[in-house]
Amino acid sequence: MTTPRTHTAVAFVGARQPLEAVRVPTAAPEDDEILIRSQFTASTPLDLHRADGGLLMQPGAIFGSTTAGVVEATGPGVSGRLAVGDRVFGWAFQKPQYRAHQEYVTAPEWMFGKIPENISPEEAATVPENLITIFNTMATDLGLPTPWPKPEDHVPDRADDPVLVWGAASSVGQSALQLLRWYGYRRVLATASPSHHQYLRGLGAAACFDYRDPDVANKVLAAASEIHGGKRGGVGGEAAVPFIIDCIGSRDGSMRPILEKNIARPGSVVAVMLPVILTHASTEQVPEYEMDAPKVARELLGPEAESSGVTVKGILPALLEMGVVKPQRFRIVEGGSILEREENALREMREGVCGVKLVWRTSDQ
Ligand SMILES: NC(=O)c1ccc[n+]([C@@H]2O[C@H](COP(=O)([O-])OP(=O)(O)OC[C@H]3O[C@@H](n4cnc5c(N)ncnc54)[C@H](OP(=O)(O)O)[C@@H]3O)[C@@H](O)[C@H]2O)c1
Repeated sequence: MTTPRTHTAVAFVGARQPLEAVRVPTAAPEDDEILIRSQFTASTPLDLHRADGGLLMQPGAIFGSTTAGVVEATGPGVSGRLAVGDRVFGWAFQKPQYRAHQEYVTAPEWMFGKIPENISPEEAATVPENLITIFNTMATDLGLPTPWPKPEDHVPDRADDPVLVWGAASSVGQSALQLLRWYGYRRVLATASPSHHQYLRGLGAAACFDYRDPDVANKVLAAASEIHGGKRGGVGGEAAVPFIIDCIGSRDGSMRPILEKNIARPGSVVAVMLPVILTHASTEQVPEYEMDAPKVARELLGPEAESSGVTVKGILPALLEMGVVKPQRFRIVEGGSILEREENALREMREGVCGVKLVWRTSDQ
């Protein structure tokens, strides 16, 4: 009898408590599953919401959903699309063995794709979570067509309607700009710190605005109204900005300016990234969250604007291979162990991350 294999994973103990390195069984791949020797993952704000706010976490739960690594074994029911030795990346979290912040991940083949040859695993780790999120936001929340494969002559009906990406320097925002451009939206307005404006124009923003400018709402509305030849945006008239993606989901930092300052008018659809952050996590501050975005919107505005959360969907490797989306700018977080690297990434997020994705090794080899 062989001894069951185990490996190291990073587990949640309790909100704002140090994480724990635990040994867990390495699940042998069954049916259509593949076993991946993980190399890199990327931290997202969701990890911080979990670690500091305990959001959707139970003691012992493993963190993470983005894995980049190498296939080490396959189950008997795989399609053959992926084989031992393939470099793969994907997004999976539904079972403990799918979670990313561990040395080995065992998950269904369909959740993973091959990393294109010209992309490194650390670059690949910057892509899945935000791209899947934004694909779903476009298709499900905004109801914008996302045909796949995209016909060569595809021009969306609303190609010239303004779409506002609030928080475009965030990872979700950068993916939004690239995907909207690829699907043919030509009038994408973006808010971000001025230092990012040139870069974001390169990703597809038609115009950029500083979200800290007290007059940002009027400037966005003026630009949108100009796109419509001045025919929209008046009081009681059609919404000047029919589609808004709030990539930040902060009650005071994004929802308040979007809703209270009338960027969203009746007829606008606002897709808000969840959770809505009521109080941001910091070294001193315990965070507070709300999963019901429409409730926050009603509190801010009354029930005028429609908001919704996001679920998932994905077409990753092809979009990366075709260059539709580029790997995001990233910084490698160092540390002596998987636990230390994850803790260091969380500390950096508490202090504030600006325009880069935090990527770190899940294995010491
Ligand atoms: N990552 C995902 O796939 C995913 C999925 C579902 C939900 N979410 C949620 O979506 C939110 C963003 O996630 P993320 O990974 O994209 O974040 P991120 O990359 O860590 O976002 C950091 C950026 O947010 C920008 N920012 C902060 N406050 C802002 C404000 N009030 N208005 C405009 N921009 C602001 C900053 O932009 P400047 O540098 O321009 O100042 C900063 O560069 C999180 O709350 C997360 O939980 C994320």
